[in-house]
Amino acid sequence: MSSHGDPQPMTARRGGALKGVAEVPGDKSISHRSLILGAMAVGETRVTGLLEGQDVLDTAAAMRAFGADVTREADGTWSIHGVGVGGFAEPEDVLDCGNSGTGVRLLMGAMATTPITVTFTGDASLRSRPMARVTDPLALFGTQAYGRANGQLPMTLIGAANPLPVRYATPVPSAQVKSAVLLAGLNAPGQTVVIEAEATRDHSERMLAGFGAEITTEITDEGRVITLTGQPELKPQTIVVPRDPSSAAFPVCAALITEGSDVLVPNIGLNPTRAGLFETLRDMGAELTYENPREEGGEPVADLRARFSPDMQGIEVPPERAASMIDEYPILSVVAANAAGATVMRGVKELRVKESDRIAAMAEGLRAAGVEVEDGPDWWIVHGRGPAGIKGGVTVATHLDHRIAMSFLCAGFASQQAITVDDAGPIATSFPVFKQLMGDLGARLDLANA
Ligand code: S3P
Repeated sequence: MSSHGDPQPMTARRGGALKGVAEVPGDKSISHRSLILGAMAVGETRVTGLLEGQDVLDTAAAMRAFGADVTREADGTWSIHGVGVGGFAEPEDVLDCGNSGTGVRLLMGAMATTPITVTFTGDASLRSRPMARVTDPLALFGTQAYGRANGQLPMTLIGAANPLPVRYATPVPSAQVKSAVLLAGLNAPGQTVVIEAEATRDHSERMLAGFGAEITTEITDEGRVITLTGQPELKPQTIVVPRDPSSAAFPVCAALITEGSDVLVPNIGLNPTRAGLFETLRDMGAELTYENPREEGGEPVADLRARFSPDMQGIEVPPERAASMIDEYPILSVVAANAAGATVMRGVKELRVKESDRIAAMAEGLRAAGVEVEDGPDWWIVHGRGPAGIKGGVTVATHLDHRIAMSFLCAGFASQQAITVDDAGPIATSFPVFKQLMGDLGARLDLANA
């Protein structure tokens, strides 16, 4: 949905220790892919633990518009009766992907090699984000795209009637671009190859293999070379979605900076392409442990335990780790503001084209809250205030960005004075139970106008 109603200001205040168990929702990346691949299989895919955030609900609606039968059962299981690779029907109306870059870019890939015409739009944030990074490689299959200047939504794609297989080296480290090309390759004859210089999250590769596609990954001098054989019959699956490490980041980081805290965040996927934040926090001296490590559904999983860590030190975050924690830099910057010394983050240009310009949004709010921040095109440095902590006493703009909103609210649990965000509404895109869950841990979080 492209609008979520009136802004909902929310205020976080220091209110004592955070304690208890935080059961965060299902993984957003895997939830989108479960619906899309389920719709491209023949037969019934069943999914439990699906994230029921607005981003994923918008993708579910899109799958229905493409002709798949998608229903939610009373116990929360989702059932998808797919139409098969190449079986998408032409939607009768514009597809509104709301706030979701992953949703729109994966959907563009999934329809690109079926001869249908689809118009995509989204909210103000999504309409400002670059789409050429996806439509450029899709053009190599024969897909036509007509959008606004700068390749922005709204945009109409005409799927290729006689698609060609593609070999494409991604110019930016992006799992969304990689996944769009792989999804398009499903309905192209022969082998579609994606080469990525830096490893990005590999859920698409793992799940395509799970659905029965022939897909291989080779590590070469060029990077990761992923080869997909087109026109498979995808077999429906039973999927248990693991909990989202990007959502786990919020209770974990809130506990690390809030005096006296001790929080257990069970069942978190620790796929190495996603776990960079937790390694970084440990490098900073966080009291963060992986309890009960195990394998579930082919993915490493553990229970995370985070305790208040007053002695954290700023570090230089290894740039090669960026892709594995790309969504976590906003909350890392809040931890960095509470650590001693500087935290240096380089090689993070992609942060400028997320739901908001995340470097600008965090720098602006942190500076207003009394933290010194330096920034350049693809780097930023947060000068930690150590035990003095963040001053707070500000209202910050969240720019329709769920992770900016949650990051500043977590900052407010430990700041000297309250922190208000101008709009907590976008949190519903990825973490609809955030307020309840943090409140259950003991956090003081109120609708500002309540
Ligand atoms: C995602 C990939 C990342 C990430 C986004 C989810 C995905 O974007 O920021 O939240 O599910 O593929 P990029 O691939 O554009 O970096």
